[in-house]
Amino acid sequence: MRITILTGAGISAESGLATFRASDGLWENHRIMDVATPEGFAKDPALVHEFYNMRRKAASVAQPNAAHLALLRLATHHDLTLVTQNVDDLHERAGSTDVIHMHGALNRATCAECGHGWPAPMVMTPEDPCPACGKPATRPDIVWFGEMPQHMERIWQALEASDLFVAIGTFGNVYPAAGFAQHAGRNGATCLELNLDTSMNAADFDDQILGPASRTVPAWVDDICRR
Ligand code: APR
Repeated sequence: MRITILTGAGISAESGLATFRASDGLWENHRIMDVATPEGFAKDPALVHEFYNMRRKAASVAQPNAAHLALLRLATHHDLTLVTQNVDDLHERAGSTDVIHMHGALNRATCAECGHGWPAPMVMTPEDPCPACGKPATRPDIVWFGEMPQHMERIWQALEASDLFVAIGTFGNVYPAAGFAQHAGRNGATCLELNLDTSMNAADFDDQILGPASRTVPAWVDDICRR
């Protein structure tokens, strides 16, 4: 079966990484607009680097949980495209390969001047020179609000070719990812949601399994690998 999976912050919650909109648009005590927009970065690059340095450190000590591990097993039984909105590397550390990071990755850096990309050091500062052009224009390779998500052509194609689309641990209010179920459904896929609470776009799914990802994902994978 051809399956496309979209994961969100909820799959990493039980690994100890905070989800985004816990309360009132605050994200670990910062306003999202201050730390996750190009405007916020232009205004205070030191604050934004510091914020992502903290997140990079937290992600580096977090461990993949049973949900990340179950998706590795799924890939051995089905033709899987794994898309994540997460910027942590817990899917990779669980053993998954070819993970599509549509919102970028904490462990990558990029140059705002020349577009060069390289592995991010654990701590980045606004003064760091780009290794290619030398300009102090380095930034985390993160897709901020108002920017274009990455690898979209490949993702739309996978959705169109899928028999099954599964969203795991995502609130369903950030586009284009929030439109994936509708797109896959229109192209013939069955759509399933695995989430802790009902998402914003629950109506776009044929079925829903509620509960913590570390429990629901392995159980669902066991089931679909038996078929
Ligand atoms: N198991 C399963 N789902 C969970 C768990 C859990 N243990 N804990 C939380 N969730 C669910 C919540 O119910 C919610 O629906 O995960 C979702 C988390 O929602 P958000 O914090 O909004 O995360 P996400 O949907 O991934 O955010 C999308 O928004 O801020 C931007 O670019 C950022 O990639 C991010 C995007």
